[in-house]
Amino acid sequence: MNKIEAIIRPERLSMVVSSLAEEGFHGLNITQVTGRGEQRGIAHVGRAGQSYVVDMLPKSKLEVVVKDGDTQRVIDIIVAAARTGQVGDGKIFVLPVSNAIRVRTGEAGDIAL
Ligand SMILES: Nc1ncnc2c1ncn2[C@@H]1O[C@H](COP(=O)(O)OP(=O)(O)OP(=O)(O)O)[C@@H](O)[C@H]1O
Ligand SMILES: [Mg+2]
Repeated sequence: MNKIEAIIRPERLSMVVSSLAEEGFHGLNITQVTGRGEQRGIAHVGRAGQSYVVDMLPKSKLEVVVKDGDTQRVIDIIVAAARTGQVGDGKIFVLPVSNAIRVRTGEAGDIAL
């Protein structure tokens, strides 16, 4: 099992969530986060011509735990729905997960997802 942690543009979140649902992936977590990437935020020019930098930008973090065999498919779905082609489209991290347990039944492993 892997946890796919995708940090994406908030305005792309609903597209990503509905694309995942269409492909049968329903279980997920969403958190609103602030962060920065390579560009360290964005530079703005104010109305008076002064420049300032917004260092941390709001992003949506989506966490999905999937079977090993579904990992690449879920990554592809997220990338296709989240990409605009502009800087700041986000980043995906893949982490190994050693187990999952459904609390109601005690089921463990892939069937608990
Ligand atoms: N190395 C990192 N570790 C943890 N979170 C990160 C990392 N890089 C980016 N993030 C998170 O991802 C968000 C989006 O990053 P972003 O898309 O700007 O990445 P990037 O590497 O700068 O790529 P791009 O050049 O396309 O903008 C950041 O706001 C931050 O929340
Ligand atoms: Mg960036």
